[in-house]
Amino acid sequence: MILGFIGTGAIAAAIVSGLNSEGRARLTIRLSPRNAGVAAGLASRFDNVSVCASSQEVLDGSETVILAVRPQVAEEVLSGLRFSSDQIVISLVAGFSARRIADLVAPAGKIWRAIPLPSVAQRRSPIALYPPLGPPAELFALLGQVFEIEKEDHLNALNTATSTMAAYFAFVGHIASWVARKGIPEQQCREYMARMFAGLADAGLEVSERSFEDLARAHATPGGLNEQVLRDLTDHGVFDTLTEALDSVHRRAADVSA
Ligand SMILES: NC(=O)c1ccc[n+]([C@@H]2O[C@H](COP(=O)([O-])OP(=O)(O)OC[C@H]3O[C@@H](n4cnc5c(N)ncnc54)[C@H](OP(=O)(O)O)[C@@H]3O)[C@@H](O)[C@H]2O)c1
Repeated sequence: MILGFIGTGAIAAAIVSGLNSEGRARLTIRLSPRNAGVAAGLASRFDNVSVCASSQEVLDGSETVILAVRPQVAEEVLSGLRFSSDQIVISLVAGFSARRIADLVAPAGKIWRAIPLPSVAQRRSPIALYPPLGPPAELFALLGQVFEIEKEDHLNALNTATSTMAAYFAFVGHIASWVARKGIPEQQCREYMARMFAGLADAGLEVSERSFEDLARAHATPGGLNEQVLRDLTDHGVFDTLTEALDSVHRRAADVSA
């Protein structure tokens, strides 16, 4: 397969790295020239990766094209390009509906939306894909676990959920900094926190039949310290604020999609 990227930034680099990791099938990959530094870095690391002179040159030589530009420029970038009718187009552009992408990439008619996360670089990402099945499902299976989504609204909701990643690191970092202020070396705090939360994430995967609410209860011994922090955060409206933030992101994405 010849795979092209329109937009060579953070997520394109993560996908290319994951596809080229050890033991993976190696595809021919063609990159658009921006960002020049990221594109040159990938081409120098991997001999199956080349940088084209323009985005149109990427399209002219690729059977499958991944759209990886930011939403703010997507319309302008895509409306200046000529797609072909047999091209497979996978859009990563947050908030752009499949219908809106279809209008921009006509006559290409085989269109998917996907949400890969940065952990595709380690082939450990959940990847939401709409509609289900087809060649993109096979491609993304190389990069993690594919979640085939039947309804576009559901993909949009998962997309909203991915807006919490920065807040996650801020949460962990906040706790690590609090501990460091007690005099423990920062690097030790950082390592401890990373391992504590990795252990919790593993537990969440291992007991997949239990809900997260159930796991929260199991970790909140009545009268214990975990129960106290959970109650304080709940009473201070932290989770209500989180719900409001998710609702707000979801509305914003719906506006882009319209
Ligand atoms: N990062 C993620 O985890 C993630 C996950 C899922 C989906 N996405 C989606 O993937 C898309 C890209 O995200 P990103 O995080 O990779 O953003 P990014 O790092 O900013 O990458 C966007 C790339 O597009 C390039 N670009 C800008 N104008 C261009 C043009 N006219 N023609 C061709 N390329 C152009 C940029 O080049 P310059 O640097 O030179 O401007 C940059 O390399 C977004 O729509 C985002 O919603 C991202």
